[in-house]
Amino acid sequence: MLKKALLSISLGAIGVSFLLPCYAAAPAKIAAVAPIADIVAEADAKIKALDEALATDKSYLESKGTTIPLEAGILAILAQAVAESEEKAAWQPSAADLRDAAIAVSNAKSYDEAKKGLAGIKDAAGGKAGAAKKEAEWNKLCGLGKVMKEVNKRAGKLRRATKKKDPTAADLAEAGRDASVMAVLALVAHDDTHEVKKPEEIKDWQKFAKEFQAQMTAASAAFKAKDMTGAGEAWKKGNTACSDCHAKFRKEE
Ligand code: HEC
Repeated sequence: MLKKALLSISLGAIGVSFLLPCYAAAPAKIAAVAPIADIVAEADAKIKALDEALATDKSYLESKGTTIPLEAGILAILAQAVAESEEKAAWQPSAADLRDAAIAVSNAKSYDEAKKGLAGIKDAAGGKAGAAKKEAEWNKLCGLGKVMKEVNKRAGKLRRATKKKDPTAADLAEAGRDASVMAVLALVAHDDTHEVKKPEEIKDWQKFAKEFQAQMTAASAAFKAKDMTGAGEAWKKGNTACSDCHAKFRKEE
């Protein structure tokens, strides 16, 4: 009896914690959303992409209004996930510094500013910790439009991955990482409710985001276990969450 009462109290507390507009931490435990190894590997890939985009004045000019803010914004999200993860990674103690440097690159107004930010990213990835605070508001890391662009890019890749007849170990690992990144991006969508015009509909928005996250987390695990049926099913359910959310909340273009 007592056990049952305690259980319902703690479940109630979990429910309440989801409803409170408290953005000091991610809306879920990162380790239960995505393995830190996936997040770090994908953050490293973003750093490499930024390094290439900022290699020359010419490459900077070509990508300054497009890929640079996008890659840097997503990197800021991944860095925040590393900072908050319950698992350990090499540059975790400097992950908050990496996040701030990525935001600086995303907002940079000149090549010099962007290069300075990139140097900060590299220092932090090398383990150099500065004064950045671990806490951050998840809805302020990167705009929703950019999050959706990245979600859409990886959605195309994942759809193809679920259809592969005989995926290699590398295919499965890559699809697993893509799904993990999607699950982390869903946390930003969950907290960035600015598109919701009626306060009473915030719970619907967050339900779609939560469902999307849960399915992407499941898809990632299924790919890793070479469970293509499970991955396909999770992908389909996750995709339904995209469509349901768009149907209810996305303005007509
Ligand atoms: C929680 C709600 C929600 C979920 C889940 C969601 N979206 Fe979106 N999406 C939106 C909203 C709202 C917009 C409009 C945002 C804007 O214009 O800034 C949008 C915009 C987009 C855009 C246009 C982005 C641009 O500006 O170019 C694409 C593409 C997109 N979503 C794809 C997807 C895909 C693919 C999925 C699932 C794999 C998904 N979305 C899941 C709410 C959602």
